Amino acid sequence: MILSLKLFLILTSVAITPIKCATCRFKLYDSQYCCEIFDANVTEKNQPFDIIGEHLPGYSNTDVKRLNVAGSGILNFIPKAIFETFINLEVLSIWGVQLKEIHQETFQDCKLSSLHLDRNNIKKIPSKAFSGCPLLTVLSLYGNTIETVEDYAISELGLLKHLILSNNELKTLPENAFANLSELQNLDLDNNKIDHLPENIFSTLGSLETLNLDRNSLVSIPPKLLSGCNSLKMFHASSNSISSIHPNTFNRHLIELIDLSQNNLKEIAPGTFQMLNHIKKIRLNSNHISSLPNESFSGCISQNLETIESVNISSNELTCEGLEALNLYDNELEIIHSNFFVNMTRLMALNLSSNKISAINRDMFKFLPKIEFLFLSNNTCTSKKFTNIKESKIPKIEKSLEKCFNNYDEL
Ligand SMILES: *[C@@H]1O[C@H](CO)[C@@H](O)[C@H](O)[C@H]1NC(C)=O
Ligand SMILES: *[C@@H]1O[C@H](CO)[C@@H](O)[C@H](O)[C@H]1NC(C)=O
Ligand SMILES: *[C@@H]1O[C@H](CO)[C@@H](O)[C@H](O)[C@H]1NC(C)=O
Ligand SMILES: *[C@@H]1O[C@H](CO)[C@@H](O)[C@H](O)[C@H]1NC(C)=O
Ligand SMILES: *[C@@H]1O[C@H](CO)[C@@H](O)[C@H](O)[C@H]1NC(C)=O
Ligand SMILES: *[C@@H]1O[C@H](CO)[C@@H](O)[C@H](O)[C@H]1NC(C)=O
Ligand SMILES: *[C@@H]1O[C@H](CO)[C@@H](O)[C@H](O)[C@H]1NC(C)=O
Repeated sequence: MILSLKLFLILTSVAITPIKCATCRFKLYDSQYCCEIFDANVTEKNQPFDIIGEHLPGYSNTDVKRLNVAGSGILNFIPKAIFETFINLEVLSIWGVQLKEIHQETFQDCKLSSLHLDRNNIKKIPSKAFSGCPLLTVLSLYGNTIETVEDYAISELGLLKHLILSNNELKTLPENAFANLSELQNLDLDNNKIDHLPENIFSTLGSLETLNLDRNSLVSIPPKLLSGCNSLKMFHASSNSISSIHPNTFNRHLIELIDLSQNNLKEIAPGTFQMLNHIKKIRLNSNHISSLPNESFSGCISQNLETIESVNISSNELTCEGLEALNLYDNELEIIHSNFFVNMTRLMALNLSSNKISAINRDMFKFLPKIEFLFLSNNTCTSKKFTNIKESKIPKIEKSLEKCFNNYDEL
């Protein structure tokens, strides 16, 4: 009697032990057959994992192209069963489910073109972690806690176009981390703690168009950092602690945007922005720039004037000919020499607010034939702001700046 009760208890406990499985909700998403998993609970590596669920009529596991695990359940490890069950998977998104580790073995024979592992708890990218997925074009690891990137971590993915590593804890990266990503167009390292980078780290990224280093802790940029990036158009390094820029850093003819706002720049070396034939915007606002070299942007003459749109020098930005807006607000400029603006013949908007301007060359307007907006708020000799400037209004404006002009004459 007691024995049979014991047996009964054992049997029931076996029967009610949760099977390690997850249920797919199958559906069509953008005409791709898709499995959505909500109730995963994987806390051990190699934990057995079954995927169950009812297919839509006429579909089977081999039709599944896309799998999402998003926001509910726990998936500390990626179960192999995912790739074994859905052998034709192309898009895998595992978001916000406490994924802790990724392993090279997980991604054997992987046919993924797109892999999103955002908002998880990944700390490390092991060497060649994704080399089993040679078809990847998008890899996103946004919002993890990645500190360690091993040698060749994300290398040799010949089709990869977008690599997102923003909002992690990176301090630096090995020089070969991104070796031979020959098709990479977009590399996002925004909001990490990067304080230095090996000079060659981007040297094999010949297709790179956008590099985002905003919100890191860089104090300088190695002069040859961008020298292999022959396709670079957008360079973002706002909100770092960069205190100087070597004049050869941007020796890239295709570059269209340079954002160095919110750094510790005190000066701009002559030549820094020369030979940038496609430049549209330069942001130097919110630095500590106290003077500009004469004709700072004079070599930065676009062969291609129609492409140049604006240079944001507010707090610290400068422009070139073709430049339409120059934002230099929030810097420490004291004297405005007319030759800052030589050949900025298309400049329409110039923001010099919140500097310490006490003197302005009275010929300034001669060099700014297209000026429409001139902001001089919060300076020493003036706090004026002029909008919709027309040629006929210039004598009146000049009159109201007489104090600044006189100060310049007396220098
Ligand atoms: C997940 O499984 C573990 C045991 O493997 C269990 O302790 C935990 O309660 C489960 N969590 C959820 C949310 O089901
Ligand atoms: C990258 O490619 C170059 C030439 O294409 C080759 O010499 C080099 O060994 C490759 N790097 C790696 C890490 O395989
Ligand atoms: C810039 O030009 C002004 C006026 O010609 C001159 O007084 C000043 O010394 C020059 N500054 C530099 C750094 O060459
Ligand atoms: C400004 O442009 C004129 C003609 O467009 C050119 O002759 C002159 O060299 C340019 N000045 C500078 C400093 O680039
Ligand atoms: C100039 O830069 C500031 C701060 O970086 C930004 O808020 C503003 O939108 C920029 N203006 C233009 C015209 O790009
Ligand atoms: C000019 O700079 C000031 C900061 O001093 C800013 O508040 C204002 O929005 C800027 N104007 C334009 C048009 O960029
Ligand atoms: C005026 O400019 C100074 C820097 O020159 C800045 O600290 C201050 O915040 C600015 N004030 C306003 C109202 O923009």
